[in-house]
Amino acid sequence: MATQENPTEKTLDQLGAAQPEQVTALFAEVRRKFDQNSAAAQDEPAFKEFRDSWLARKSGILTQITDNWLKPAKVDLKRVVGQELNALKAHVQEIITQRESELSSAAGDSVSAAERIDLSLPGVTRPIGSHHLIRQVFQEIEDIFVSIGFSVAEGPEIETPYYNFEALNIPEHHPVRDDMDTFYLDLPKGAATPLLLRTHTSPVQIRSMEKRQPPVRVIAPGKVYRRDNPDATHSFMFHQIEGLAVDTDITFCDFTGTIEYFIRQFFGAGVKTRFRPSYFPFTEPSVEFDMSCIFCGGSGANANGTTCSKCKGAGWIELFGAGMVDPAVYGFVNYDPKKVSGFAFGIGIDRLAMMKYEIDDIQVLFQNDVRFLKQFP
Ligand code: DAH
Repeated sequence: MATQENPTEKTLDQLGAAQPEQVTALFAEVRRKFDQNSAAAQDEPAFKEFRDSWLARKSGILTQITDNWLKPAKVDLKRVVGQELNALKAHVQEIITQRESELSSAAGDSVSAAERIDLSLPGVTRPIGSHHLIRQVFQEIEDIFVSIGFSVAEGPEIETPYYNFEALNIPEHHPVRDDMDTFYLDLPKGAATPLLLRTHTSPVQIRSMEKRQPPVRVIAPGKVYRRDNPDATHSFMFHQIEGLAVDTDITFCDFTGTIEYFIRQFFGAGVKTRFRPSYFPFTEPSVEFDMSCIFCGGSGANANGTTCSKCKGAGWIELFGAGMVDPAVYGFVNYDPKKVSGFAFGIGIDRLAMMKYEIDDIQVLFQNDVRFLKQFP
């Protein structure tokens, strides 16, 4: 039997097929060809070409078989050709439908493969961060004072002149106000009182005493503001911790003992302390506390004999102001100055942090450069 390249272009007569078995064999061959073509058409364009070559109305192979084999078939072969053709059509239809759905789901798979979340991948670790150095130093100082019976108080950063000045024994035209170039708020005309950004944490002394009767032992950490031009040691905003202890029997020894205890806890047992007379309107007597220079060990000189630049050869570093509460202050909070006594101090936190951690520019504390912050995890 002649099995040419494309037998479906010829009639059964031309192919010499006169017996039903020959017809069946021809269809079997066509079917094999179809299966081969199907297997070969793997991607989308090849599949389309394959499908059209079999199903196209005008020139598709099924149409050719209808036109060339079925229609001209002799009566005795018509039946078997019809049956075989129907079976072939069913097979072709089934395979093509199946392939179509396979191809479209494969396309769908490839989209979702790109978008799919791989749950086995390690997650994105978000850095937890850490407390800012200033927060850490606050914490350290609070822990020291809390361990000896102080509690932590807070006050507003926007204050009235009464709390920031008057009640601290700084009347309106007192020259000390000039030292505190102050930010006043712009308020509507007729406002009950002027308002300002507090220049120190000392107003919390007054607010604490107003709220309770002696004994009072509080520390008050927070931000304070002054119209200082920025440089290596000045910032318009910085941090203080105020301290206040008032009771019926507090002496100057309690005062200096407490401060010395704090300084040793914070800087180490080896440091020496001293105090010098000073002046604050709300303390009497007032002092300035110094500690022996932690960089040169108090000698004023470096190991190689050059002058210590941190204490400028003095061997001492000025720390903060303090004093016994001025009796005039008790008058503002209705304490009896004859019955109570106490001490107060105001520690500049930024300065202390700079000293302890050898930071030579206050500005880096506020620039929030992670390369700096990461050094204090
Ligand atoms: N309030 C002062 C200032 O900011 C610091 C200060 C000095 C606070 C002596 C005190 C004190 O409580 O007793 O300059």
